[in-house]
Amino acid sequence: MKTLDSLALRAEGDRLFVLDQTLLPHEEKWIECREPRDMIQLIQRLAVRGAPLIGVAAALALAQAAEKGASAEALTIAADELREARPTAVNLAAAIDRLKLTLNPFERGRLISEAEAIFIEDVALCEAMADNGASLIADGDQILTHCNTGGLATAGVGTALGAIRRAHEQGKRIHVFVDETRPLLQGARLTAWELSKLGIPHTLICDNMAGALMAQGRVQKVFVGADRIARNGDAANKIGTYGLAVLAHHHGVKFYVVAPQTTFDESCKDGAAIPIEERKAEEVSGRQANQSSAVWNPAFDVTPKKLITAIVSDSRIF
Ligand code: MRU
Repeated sequence: MKTLDSLALRAEGDRLFVLDQTLLPHEEKWIECREPRDMIQLIQRLAVRGAPLIGVAAALALAQAAEKGASAEALTIAADELREARPTAVNLAAAIDRLKLTLNPFERGRLISEAEAIFIEDVALCEAMADNGASLIADGDQILTHCNTGGLATAGVGTALGAIRRAHEQGKRIHVFVDETRPLLQGARLTAWELSKLGIPHTLICDNMAGALMAQGRVQKVFVGADRIARNGDAANKIGTYGLAVLAHHHGVKFYVVAPQTTFDESCKDGAAIPIEERKAEEVSGRQANQSSAVWNPAFDVTPKKLITAIVSDSRIF
């Protein structure tokens, strides 16, 4: 493999490393992925996360196995297992399906170069989204964001956070409010870490403070990412996104979804067709909740298109 380097993913020859995002912001530890099974676990425990990045990382894990000489049969089994690692982000299935085209007939070199292309293309898609998204951000805007949609979630500058970063680089004086994003705190841990590194002014809030913030007129725009966008424009994203969209609608705040072409799923008619991952109860109950209570822990929700002001993609703004 070519040398590929991003904020949370690195490849060189047949070696592949990921930044363990479960340890951020307190520890920056790189873990070596040696085989597709390692990558499945890294994706499932969210050491590697974010819709575009899990597609890119799974593709590189398959390329690594090809580089190490795995047979077409073994690669097909690994591809199918990687594809199932998480269900909601369509980027994962799309990346694996693209690589599977090189398995029958088997072209080892092409599988590796396609995986490299998926990484390189994601960087370019992020750049285009950042430019398009930043065009919607004005000097002085106060922007609310949810989950993590930056360099940790993609191979490039990110989706929604990429647009925010680009606006800051353009000299626009913006302030970002960061939802902590319960239960796994991608906002408090990851987005806040990225914004601090970039020197972008921001304030952390608990998810349940967004309504009060909007009621005080302190947010003009919401920028979020997506894990899968259905044919009709309904968008699945991190749990809590739908609630924010309802709040934004009520308060007349613009609500933008930023996502690359790899997040659109023509085969899903509408949001109801998007599979929603449900995760372990312990993520919600932790140590503090009453341990004998039942827990519901959907990782994503669907925002209907009528609540979305615009979808910002790499090619254009819909
Ligand atoms: O469970 P996660 O952390 O992988 O969820 C990530 C999100 O929901 C992001 O908002 C989404 O992937 C789009 S951004 C790149």
